[in-house]
Amino acid sequence: MIQLLDRTFEPFIGTNELDNRLVGLAEELKNFYQHKQVKVLVVLNGAAVFAVDLLRLLPVNFQMDFVKVKSYENMDSTGEVKAVFGMNHAIEGEEVLLLEDIVDTGLTIDRLKEDLQRLNPSRMEVCSLLFKPEAFKGKEIPKFIGFSIPNKFVVGYGLDYNEYGRNLKEIYQLKEL
Ligand code: IMP
Ligand code: MG
Repeated sequence: MIQLLDRTFEPFIGTNELDNRLVGLAEELKNFYQHKQVKVLVVLNGAAVFAVDLLRLLPVNFQMDFVKVKSYENMDSTGEVKAVFGMNHAIEGEEVLLLEDIVDTGLTIDRLKEDLQRLNPSRMEVCSLLFKPEAFKGKEIPKFIGFSIPNKFVVGYGLDYNEYGRNLKEIYQLKEL
């Protein structure tokens, strides 16, 4: 168990499970994007850790760039996206793959997709390490999902609790009081 600020978290998804699933996801992406040039847009900050591990398993036709949005404070999704940076990508006519750490309500990714759609990519898909089906209120379920998980707050492997815990090697789940 670990303590971050005022909360206790318990181990949930270990490093072996993460490593194995990343290999599987890389295979799915390779198959889907065979012979295509792909522009991977990593949604900061959360997806950074997941992205560098995943990208090293992918072939050279995958390029990487970053976008940033912010929608979360404390542990409740407000559904309000506060800022979007890095929207000056030349993605017109490109195959775009958005890499997310987690799709919870789905509102953040929906808003980001709407904004990026205006830049006319040829196609845009989402790959999210984690997905919370019970919380989801978005338009489209991510095409590529690492793990579907229960509707509980998680940290580690890029995911944070008020910016703490991103550096944890494994994913931890909030321990209910
Ligand atoms: P959504 O808009 O509700 O889908 O929330 C998306 C964003 O909220 C994610 O990109 C995360 O940054 C953050 N988030 C959602 N659930 C969690 C969680 O369980 N732990 C940490 N961050 C989360
Ligand atoms: Mg995020």
